[in-house]
This record gives sequence, C-alpha cells and structure tokens, in this order.
Amino acid sequence: MALIEPVSSRLCFYNFKPPVADIEQEVLTGLRRPQPAIHPKFFYNARGSKLFEAITRQPEYYPTGTEKKLLRHIAPKLSALMPPNMLLAEPGAGNCEKVRLILDHWRPRAYMPIEISHDELLDAARALAMENPDLPIHAVRADYTAPIEWPDEAAPPRLVFFPGSTLGNFEPTDRAVFLRRMRELAGDGGGLLLGVDLHKDSALLNAAYNDAAGHTAAFNLNILHHLNDLLDAGFQPDGFDHVAFYNEDARRIEMHLRCRNVQHINIGGEQLKFAAGDTFHTENSYKFNRSDLNSYLEEAGFRMREWWETDEPAFGLCLADSV
Ligand code: AVI
Repeated sequence: MALIEPVSSRLCFYNFKPPVADIEQEVLTGLRRPQPAIHPKFFYNARGSKLFEAITRQPEYYPTGTEKKLLRHIAPKLSALMPPNMLLAEPGAGNCEKVRLILDHWRPRAYMPIEISHDELLDAARALAMENPDLPIHAVRADYTAPIEWPDEAAPPRLVFFPGSTLGNFEPTDRAVFLRRMRELAGDGGGLLLGVDLHKDSALLNAAYNDAAGHTAAFNLNILHHLNDLLDAGFQPDGFDHVAFYNEDARRIEMHLRCRNVQHINIGGEQLKFAAGDTFHTENSYKFNRSDLNSYLEEAGFRMREWWETDEPAFGLCLADSV
C-alpha cells in the first residue's frame, strides 16, 4: 500500500517502501545459491545513485553519452510520432536527466517517474516540477521489478520510457516477465521507448566496466554498504575486490565481488560464512541486437515501429506500440 504525500499542487509522491522482512529473504535466497548472488537493484541507495551518475561521466562508459546523442536526434520527431493524450512513465528514472531531452520537444499528459531510491526520486521530481510548472508529476517510489498497483490518477495510455539499457540487467526469464509488465503499464494504445546497448568489441566493453578512476569498483562495493545499512549484515567491504569482464558466449558483462578474506555475515538471525576467493555475482549487463530485441518485444505484446542505431560505439533506441 502506498503512502501518498502531496508535495505541491502538480507533484504527488507515492511511497511503496519495500518491507525489511522481504528484503532479508530475497538477499538470503541469493547468498545461499551455489554461486552466491546479490540482486543489482541493491546498488541504488543515495550513494549508489551518485556513484552511478559518476560512472556515466567517465570517458570509458560510452552508453550514456551515446544514447543522449541519439535521443537529441530523435526527440524533435517524437511529437509527430506520439498521440497527444499519453502519460509518460519512466521506470528507474534516477535523476530524470534523459527525460528532459524529450520534454523539450513533446508534452505528455503527465509524467510518472518510478524509482527505488527515495531521496533521489524526491529531489529529481522536485527539480523537474520547478522547471515544468504545468506538468503533472506522479512520482512513484517503488521496486519496479515487483508488481505495483499504479496510481488511478496516472491511467493509460502510457508511453513507457526505459532508456540506459537497464533491460540488459534482467536475466532472460525476468526480462520476459518485466516486458509483459511494461506492456500492461503501457496499456492499449500505449507504447515503449527503449534504449539498448548493442553487442560490440569486447575491449570497449571491458573498459566501460573497469573505468580507470575506479567509480565502477566503488559502485560495485557500495552494494555491501547498502546491505549493511538495510540489514546490519556485517559485510566488510574493504575485504572485497571488484571483478568485471565480458562473457562473449553469454553476450553479457558480468560483475562480481571477490572476498579477500573470511567474511561472517548475519542476516535475519542467520549466519553465513564466506572464504577468501569466494565470489558474489552482483550484475549481468546483457548486450543486444535488433532482431533478438524484436522477438522479445513481440512476445511481450509490443510491435517495433521505429529503430535508430549509432555507429561505433553501437547503441540502439526503438519505439514500439502496444498490440
Ligand atoms: C543501469 N545499468 C544499465 C548499468 C549497466 O551498464 O548495466 C549499470 C552499471 N553497472 C556498472 N556500470 C554501470
């Protein structure tokens, strides 16, 4: 059940805070696996969101700059492509930076950013409301990987904006479930504007997830700080190394944390022990091609209408309609 907090006449904040007991169970289930894993959504507390922003400014991390260039190119075409009564919904909106490129050219009926990080969402929604006093904003603080009851005020049809290749952070089964959920969110007459990173030379990919300044390493380690804050878990982040590499066969970047020494963890009264050399798998970032994406969208009930793609480094944006 959401706690609804009106912030101003045009901005309403819906707080779907995930219960701590659910988080304990989810983290324990991941850590008990033969290959222990922590879900990448736990990267994003206030510090993690700031570290991710720092990553996007690194010269090696090409996806953000490349996608923004592409968005600047297509945004002027959007008003001709979109019906006027659409609501714009953005799961994982972060600092709401990319949506500004769209709002400069196309006015949706309202904007619904969805974000797990409370402070980042509130700050970003407030700033956007100041810049766009006429735009109704329904800011939803929620874990968008779980089912959500969308606010009645934010009814379909909706254009779901999902940039940044965050689709690549879902495992194939979860991706299919997520895309079907996005089809429900879009509703009949709605659509999806999706940004995806494309398969490319592994040297470029390996560099993007091992930036020289060490922001990706700090981002990866921050997942342990976040779990300590949430669950008092007892991880010693100083005793871990960041590991990231492109797995060519699976067409994904893998991120792991490797223990340098013994770690004693306590979650919800359960003790877990990890030895030096043990690893936690923290993230996959799958890379796509257009034809695979086409099939994933069709399975979910979308049909691709437009496709734009950059030259090296290759990044794609597609506009799909609900069918
Ligand atoms: C948010 N997501 C699309 C990023 C990615 O590239 O998979 C997260 C990230 N992980 C390390 N660097 C960036």
